[in-house]
Parts: sequence; structure tokens; C-alpha cells
Amino acid sequence: MGDDRLSDLRRRKDRIRALGGPERIQRQHDQGKLTARERLDHLLDPGSFVELDAFVTHQARQFGMERVEAPADGVVTGYGTIAGRTVYVFSQDFTVLGGSLGSSHAGKICKVMDLAMRTGAPMIGLNDSGGARIQEGVDSLGGYAEIFYRNTMASGVIPQISAIMGPCAGGAVYSPAITDFTIMVRGTSYMFVTGPQVVRTVTREEVGFEELGGAEVHAGASGVAHFVAEDDMDCLQQIRRLLSYVPQNNLEDPPRAPSTDDPARMDDALNGIVPGDPIKPYDMSEVIRRVVDTDSFFEVHARFAQNLITGFARLDGRAVGVVAQQPGVLAGVLDIASSTKGARFIRFCDAFNIPLVTFVDVPGFLPGVGQEHGGIIRHGAKLLFAYCEATVPKIAVVTRKAYGGAYDVMSSKHIRGDINLAWPTAEIAVMGPEGAIEIIYRKELAEAKDAAALRARLVADYRAQFSNPYIAATRGYIDDVIEPRETRPRLISALAALESKRQSLPRKKHGNIPL
Ligand code: HXC
Repeated sequence: MGDDRLSDLRRRKDRIRALGGPERIQRQHDQGKLTARERLDHLLDPGSFVELDAFVTHQARQFGMERVEAPADGVVTGYGTIAGRTVYVFSQDFTVLGGSLGSSHAGKICKVMDLAMRTGAPMIGLNDSGGARIQEGVDSLGGYAEIFYRNTMASGVIPQISAIMGPCAGGAVYSPAITDFTIMVRGTSYMFVTGPQVVRTVTREEVGFEELGGAEVHAGASGVAHFVAEDDMDCLQQIRRLLSYVPQNNLEDPPRAPSTDDPARMDDALNGIVPGDPIKPYDMSEVIRRVVDTDSFFEVHARFAQNLITGFARLDGRAVGVVAQQPGVLAGVLDIASSTKGARFIRFCDAFNIPLVTFVDVPGFLPGVGQEHGGIIRHGAKLLFAYCEATVPKIAVVTRKAYGGAYDVMSSKHIRGDINLAWPTAEIAVMGPEGAIEIIYRKELAEAKDAAALRARLVADYRAQFSNPYIAATRGYIDDVIEPRETRPRLISALAALESKRQSLPRKKHGNIPL
């Protein structure tokens, strides 16, 4: 081959690798953002990235586009490895036409999504885009829809992760919304369906980009973002960590990591962690951290609906999904936000063969007009539906309260919990003592000379009779009452015993989860 051909190839590739040129790259860096290619270099194992479609560019011929050079058409696509495992990636390049999405740009993304699906490998999208490429009109909209369709088909088949590392506005937000996990970079990313200007015109509300759709808002108030990153590097590291808990696809089991934490390790501090006073809170995240392999807990949705904790962890190296009430926030009550948070997480774990470990301390569902009118019936049903439908191993530990409907919901035996354990501090009953005696002794209390003394006696009686794990245990609804210190070894042995669990659902097109 002549040198001229090789130098021509090299020149062409160098031009494409130079993105939108030094000035636009400098602008990207000045904003604290890495370029599309730098991001891939940090996300993937060193040297593992293989680019596809570098030569693809737009075919637009209107609005002067025939003269616009768009290296790689504003999106870098291909495959590489994370911890040695293949992933497919796209990384939008804001330095080329603002990372805007036209027909070719969308086609490149679809091509790698199709490859990810065909090979059963995770799909990771790094979003940094001005949205639909205005010059390409309806072709841009079509391009988005092609991506949304593929996101939906891939849901539950391969893990899909979206990083928001710049603008993501308008209909573009719906691709990340369909994917399994969204991570936003603090200060440099935002997501909204309509921006501040439109909001001002339509509702007269004055709001800035950050306030309307920044990382903090979506991680806390809306729950759109599962994770917040401090900067681009942190974002890419969090994606790598997240993938370490999940399998490549729905037909595989999650990878088992080597563990240095003794599987037989007992923790005496757990025996004293639940306060004697049943209305006193304690920190359930401490319980989780003491039980799982050292430093293995990776919280999901940490800032959203904090009355329920969700996250990944390892037990003797096996990945598990942890769902747990947080008694320190709203007494661990189930409300609309926590129900939808839990349901979505459970469905992810179930789709990807990740066993569920549930720590239960739930006084019930949150009362109130706001909750009822907001549809707590509909939303609470999502959590129930998700637990009922999940066929992965389901292990639960009742640490304290398991009252009423919430007892049923939280991975109970009746909805096919596999191993249900309780601590001696567990209180499993239809309702708490105070509420219960007001109903069953209404007449006696109304007629009593000293109602307060009678109430106190009845509450104490009820607590002694019902607020314990033993009634449930005598019926086999609880498989064993254990010392809190034994929790880790008991969970590890349960997971090992359930490893071969096979359970299938009745044949159907799909269920009709209450949305
Ligand atoms: C074409 C675009 C573009 C777009 C940005 N650019 N967005 N080109 N189509 N959607 C170009 C700019 O012209 C500019 O080109 C370069 O990208 C960088 O943009 P700037 O505006 O200089 O950057 P910045 O100041 O950082 O502002 C970023 C921005 C702004 C806030 C995202 O660019 C913006 O408002 N863009 C338009 C956003 C938008 O309305 N998109 C359509 C949304 S509707 P030069 O050559 O000057 O460097 C949508 C629907 C999707 O997306 C529907 C799916 C169903």
C-alpha cells in the first residue's frame, strides 16, 4: 500500500479525533467538563475503546448544513471493557454542533444499541447535547424515537446506564428516563422537558437552570437521577462501580467478587442497635453496613425518599439488592415516593437475577389527604406488585415493626418470601398498640374513670401479647427468630441455599403493574 493512502487515512482520523477544534474543546474544559473522547478514556479500561462509525457524518443539505463539517457527527460510539467485561458506549460531543442529535448521530447510537442487544452487553450513554438538531427537523425527532424504541426493547434484557454530563432537554430526557439508572454531574448538567424560558412564558414562574433541573433537584425532589457525581471523573468512576454489581444481561448471574470479609463474622453491636423504646429511631444504614461485606454497600437513590433505603451490596462476594426502611426518616413509613423508589429498584434486581435482601421496620403507610389524593393506593400497589412478581431469591429480616398492609408488602412469606427472619425486637401485628386498643377497647376507655391508666395497661398487655415475632413464627410466617449479631452468617447461608432457586411466572404477554 502506498504511503499516501496511509497518510490520508491518518489525516482523516486525526481530523475526526480533533473533535470541534481547540477553541470549543477549551470552552468545554473551562466549564469543568471533559470532552467526549476523554470521558470514554476514563470510563473504559485503558486502551480498550474501539471506535465505530468515526467516518459517519450528517447528510443534511439545508440551512447551510452542506458546508458544515461535523466530525463523527457529534457523537463518539463503539465498545470497550470495564473490569474486563464488554460494554457498548456512546458519548455525545458538545464541541460539534452542540452534540445535537440528527439522523446520522441517532443512527450511530442505534447501531451500538443493536450490537449491545445482540451480544448481551450493557449499554452506557454519556449525554451532553443541545437536543434535536434544529437544521434536521423531523429527522431528528425520528432519530430520538428510534432510540426510545430500542431503550424500551432493551429494558430488562441488558443493563442501560445514562450519564447526564451537560444539557439534556426536551424529549431527549426520555431516553435516560427509560434506562435503568441516571447519574447527573453536579453543576454542569441539567434535565427538563421545558426550560426556564418556556416555564416563564407559560406559568410565569422565574426559575434558573439549576433550580429547575439540576442534579440536586433530580436526585432529591423528582427522583429522576439515581446518583449525583461531583464532576465528570467521579461520574465515570460511579458507573464502573455500579456495573460491578450487575450481570451482562438478563440470562447471566451477577459477577461474584472475591471477599476478604469473614462470612461467619458476627457483630455483637447489632444486638443493642434497636432502642428499647419502640418509637426511638436508629440508623438502618448502619445495620446494613455492619451486615454486608466491608465497604460493599452502594446506595441507589440516596437523596430521594430517604425513608426507604435501596442499594447494592455484597454478601460473601455475592451481589444483592438491599431494600430497607430507614426508621430515622419519617419513622420508616411507606409513602408515595418510597413505594415507587422501592418498586423500580426491585424490578431492576429481579430482571437481572440479583437476590433481594429486605430489612423491615415499617409502622405502615403514611396517613394524610396529600397521600390519599396523590394516589398512595396506586403507588403503594407498585411496591406490592414488584415484590409479588419478583422470582429472584427473597430474604427478609424484620428488625422491629412490621404492621398492617406494610407487613404483607415487605417481602412477606405470603407473597413468596423464601427466607423470612426476625430479630427478637420484631413487632408483627395488624397495627401498633396505641391504635389497636383505641379501636378494640373504645367503649371501655370511654367509660373508664381513669382512662389514661387503663390505656397504659391495655397498651402494655397488647404489646406483650402481639408486639413480638413469636405469633408469626408459630405459624411459620417467620422461619426463625435470630439474634441480631447472627444476621450476616444467616443471610450468607440463606443466599447459598437459594442459589439454585428457579421460579417462573404464569405465561402472559406482560403483567399490568398499577402505573
Ligand atoms: C443545532 C445546536 C443545537 C441544536 C446547540 N447547537 N444546540 N445546533 N441544534 N439543538 C449549537 C449552537 O448553535 C452552537 O453552535 C453550539 O451548538 C454550542 O451551543 P451554544 O449555544 O453556544 O452553547 P451554550 O451557550 O453552552 O448553550 C447550550 C444550550 C443552547 C443551552 C443547549 O445551545 C441551546 O439552547 N440550544 C438549543 C436547545 C434546544 O432548544 N434544542 C431543541 C430542543 S427540542 P456554534 O457553531 O455557534 O458553536 C428537542 C426535542 C427532542 O430536543 C424531541 C425528542 C422527541
